[in-house]
Amino acid sequence: MPFLWDKLLRPLAFKMDAESAHERGIRALEAGLAAPFYSEETDPILECSRFGLTFRNPLGIAAGFDKNGVVVEPLARLGFGFVEVGTVTARPQPGNPKPRLFRLPDDNALINRLGFNNDGADVVAARLKLSKACVAGVNIGRNKDVANDDAVENFLEAFRAVRDVADYVTINVSSPNTPALRELQQREHLNELLGALAAENLESDRPKPLLVKIAPDLDDASIESVCDLATTHRLSGIIATNTSTSRDGLTSDVSSIGEGGLSGRPIRRRSTEVIRTIYRYSPRGLAIIGVGGIFTSEDAFEKVCAGACLVQAYTGFVYGGPGFPSRINAGLAAILRERGFSSVDEAVGSSVK
Ligand SMILES: Cc1cc2nc3c(=O)[nH]c(=O)nc-3n(C[C@H](O)[C@H](O)[C@H](O)COP(=O)(O)O)c2cc1C
Repeated sequence: MPFLWDKLLRPLAFKMDAESAHERGIRALEAGLAAPFYSEETDPILECSRFGLTFRNPLGIAAGFDKNGVVVEPLARLGFGFVEVGTVTARPQPGNPKPRLFRLPDDNALINRLGFNNDGADVVAARLKLSKACVAGVNIGRNKDVANDDAVENFLEAFRAVRDVADYVTINVSSPNTPALRELQQREHLNELLGALAAENLESDRPKPLLVKIAPDLDDASIESVCDLATTHRLSGIIATNTSTSRDGLTSDVSSIGEGGLSGRPIRRRSTEVIRTIYRYSPRGLAIIGVGGIFTSEDAFEKVCAGACLVQAYTGFVYGGPGFPSRINAGLAAILRERGFSSVDEAVGSSVK
């Protein structure tokens, strides 16, 4: 099967512009065309439990791939242990003008400024009600035309729409493609936002695990401040990290691309550093979902050892193709056994001094 992807499907997909290839990929998944790559057996060493949920393996597909919750089941059947749908916003919106997604093959990276193009929280929630193939989180964000002063109400609207169908909810304050969204990571804004969502959540008879997703571009003091607020408001965890506005270390000429979030291999190390910083500061309280530049099982294992109990990938899947999740999982299980661990949990934080 790797041959089919490497020699045929990927060259074909990479001839198209990146967003068309993505749309076709989603349609192919919806139509069941990825069935030859399905891999549903699970290695028990990979099973893990966090915030009241059981994951058959720790590898999720990161937010942004299935923005509208249309391919949760096929993604699960390819081997992902969980799917994070979204980002969804309270009202539907078209996102930024195209082109807005770019490949950097020499760097194993992508730059995107999609800008939360999505069908809106109500439509996505109705869709998710019908499918429950695996753990499915929903990532919520702010509509572009809403000012930060009104962000709390806008987030609450999205949250109320999706909470009953989401296994967990991610509060996204770290996309670089919605003007000023990242300012919501600042202490005062974040305190108000997390406080309001946590209070709303507790009013329900079935409160959901809440996580906050942060940027790799925060300094240590800001990361620690997010940890403090997440703890104060009893969040379940932190997702580290979103894409970066940095262009450091790239070999590709990106001068004509313009703004957007960088993902993939160039952000791997920084995202792992952020995970380590969170784990050091808050070793047991908060669950960490580690994401950024995972292309191999070793990359996933490194994030676990830095403190992540679950991991996610997006860009690695784009480059690695439909066999990616089962390959990463098989390799991760082998690494755990080789290093003498009997579960993912045992390895969490093991490289943090
Ligand atoms: C095309 C694209 C769209 C994305 N859209 C979202 C999004 O809507 N919400 C979000 O929280 N993260 C989004 N992300 C960020 C990813 O979820 C992930 O945090 C980031 O890409 C780092 O992981 P990776 O290096 O494995 O891609 C997007 C990433 C890409 C490449």
